[in-house]
Amino acid sequence: MILSSIWVLTFFSFIYVNGVLPIEATHHSFRELQNLSSDYYKQPYRTAYHFQPPKNWINGPLRYKGLYHLFYQYNPKGAVWGNIVWAHSVSKDLVNWAPLDPAIFPSQPSDINGCWSGSTTLIHGGKPVILYTGINPLNQQVQNLAYPKNLSDPFLREWVKSPKNPLMAPTSANKINSSSFRDPTTSWLGKDGYWRVLIGSKRNTLGLAILYKSKDFVNWAKAKYPLHSVQGTGMWECPDFFPILNDSPIGIDTSFNGDNIRHVLKVSLDDKKHDYYMIGSYDIVKDKFIPDKAFKDSESFLRYDYGKYYASKTFFDDGKNRRILLGWVNESSSVAHDIKKGWSGIHAIPRAIWLDKSGKQLVQWPVVEIEKLRANPVNWPTKLLKGGHLLQINGVTAAQADVEISFEVNNLGEAEVLDNWTDPQSLCSQKGPTYKSGLGPFGLLVFASKGLQEYTSVYFKIFRYQHKNLVLLCSDQSRSSLDNNNDKTNYGTFVDVDPLHEKLSLRSLIDHSVVESFGGEGKACITARVYPTLAINDEAQLYVFNNGTADVKLTRLSAWSLKKAQINGKIKIDKTGL
Ligand SMILES: *[C@@H]1O[C@H](CO)[C@@H](O)[C@H](O)[C@H]1NC(C)=O
Ligand SMILES: *[C@@H]1O[C@H](CO)[C@@H](O)[C@H](O)[C@H]1NC(C)=O
Ligand SMILES: *[C@@H]1O[C@H](CO)[C@@H](O)[C@H](O)[C@H]1NC(C)=O
Ligand SMILES: *[C@@H]1O[C@H](CO)[C@@H](O)[C@H](O)[C@H]1NC(C)=O
Ligand SMILES: *[C@@H]1O[C@H](CO)[C@@H](O)[C@H](O)[C@H]1NC(C)=O
Ligand SMILES: *[C@@H]1O[C@H](CO)[C@@H](O)[C@H](O)[C@H]1NC(C)=O
Repeated sequence: MILSSIWVLTFFSFIYVNGVLPIEATHHSFRELQNLSSDYYKQPYRTAYHFQPPKNWINGPLRYKGLYHLFYQYNPKGAVWGNIVWAHSVSKDLVNWAPLDPAIFPSQPSDINGCWSGSTTLIHGGKPVILYTGINPLNQQVQNLAYPKNLSDPFLREWVKSPKNPLMAPTSANKINSSSFRDPTTSWLGKDGYWRVLIGSKRNTLGLAILYKSKDFVNWAKAKYPLHSVQGTGMWECPDFFPILNDSPIGIDTSFNGDNIRHVLKVSLDDKKHDYYMIGSYDIVKDKFIPDKAFKDSESFLRYDYGKYYASKTFFDDGKNRRILLGWVNESSSVAHDIKKGWSGIHAIPRAIWLDKSGKQLVQWPVVEIEKLRANPVNWPTKLLKGGHLLQINGVTAAQADVEISFEVNNLGEAEVLDNWTDPQSLCSQKGPTYKSGLGPFGLLVFASKGLQEYTSVYFKIFRYQHKNLVLLCSDQSRSSLDNNNDKTNYGTFVDVDPLHEKLSLRSLIDHSVVESFGGEGKACITARVYPTLAINDEAQLYVFNNGTADVKLTRLSAWSLKKAQINGKIKIDKTGL
């Protein structure tokens, strides 16, 4: 199915039966399937600092004994989805990753046809456990448990499956659809001593998060009611449910409950292939999520990212007291192209995530560790950017860069008036970068070829609508490549900033075939995959531009080359770490 299960990750707590764990007899190594040819890394679209498996699909995190663990859905045998195992990499900094052997692969009846997504939880005193979806001989989706064989091993190299698997399964009594029952969340512990976990599901077109409870993490009982459900949304994949502080960017443990917190429910909608979230409160007595009024129906759900971004998961990083979001980014090229290049899918840069001051939305920002890769800083003094002007940013490797810009706009009277409400994505397509309005488009041209035959533009436009200023952020891929076999959908969203009193800021992380953009200091994110044919490697150029009629002030421009990270390369791992 589809990509259903792209993500893994998470935490928990629980029970090592009498301290004795039955051990799986064999531990296959898939290393031989991961050999890389020497010209592998010469591919122009292969990213340099985004997480990728050596080849093929990916997927999920956890911090244990000071190491970050990423488990991801991986096909050891090809660049298309299938043969899914839980591959495993570790990192000290969320930037450089070392590969380990797969953690979980089919071996029991309850997972013999696949080890799909799930989550980790730290249970009793911080012991990690994994709950994951297995595909049984009847091709039903069931939930399984695994735990580390050796808790003293910071690499958590070997995992043991519970002999009681599956722990949760569709039955005629519980009426769960056996083709729509997957992706257990990180579990959380209630004050009553019961662990709770959500499993994504659907009933006809009703999307739902089925709730299970357990005292010992082995025996699970389905709650009478789901934690939440929404009509018309279809299958909920990779649900994620976590608390955030009302008034602080500091992250909190998934089991934390108390005053001054809100809860977030995120679901990956299989029908739409986007990640949506709601903010609300969690009624611990009724075990119900109550979304705020602003999220009254699926039309009002917010997205983590308005470009390509799916099957994401968060985890609480107790080392730096932050909640980190990891997401999977699909290709925009054809499957034939994926097979030719031998890999498909990357992870977005891990993002710290917290509640915006307004309480109405989340804010996301690339983890600070990524800044270690910055080199060759370029800083410009404030400049007036006249309408129709284009300025090249020299001195950085434009295909592998980090750039931050800010604009100040004083003449809001010049903003184009919008008569009718239009959704932002359509607005970006109808009024693209060549359509001059009063204020905008202004922003960045990335992956630009020398003659501008190719470029991807990430830009703002300001509109006046019913006496309010609307700030639109677009990522326009229509001219990104001379190759027309790619999906070049334009992406867009409004950014909740007041252009009269606040700067309009934009940061883009550029990495060969990906542009991750953060508008309004992380209030609006758009990730795009592009495959230029001319603007590759050293041929790529980077510009700041203003194609509106009015001038705007460029108050900040800071750009850096980004060094290559060690992604599943030849990192030495030993008992002491990376
Ligand atoms: C991968 O490399 C190993 C060791 O170098 C070798 O034994 C194996 O045959 C190779 N596998 C493939 C598929 O090339
Ligand atoms: C468990 O891991 C520790 C740390 O890596 C190691 O010293 C020890 O030998 C391991 N125990 C077993 C039984 O493998
Ligand atoms: C169960 O899920 C499958 C797979 O999505 C779907 O084809 C089928 O219609 C579902 N059945 C019901 C009753 O929702
Ligand atoms: C990923 O992209 C391919 C096309 O390259 C598309 O067929 C597939 O549906 C996409 N999957 C998701 C989950 O977005
Ligand atoms: C836009 O609004 C005008 C009235 O202001 C109306 O005549 C027109 O039909 C609307 N257009 C669309 C596409 O809704
Ligand atoms: C600016 O607009 C003009 C036409 O209005 C167009 O030809 C040009 O390509 C645009 N520049 C960019 C960078 O989009």
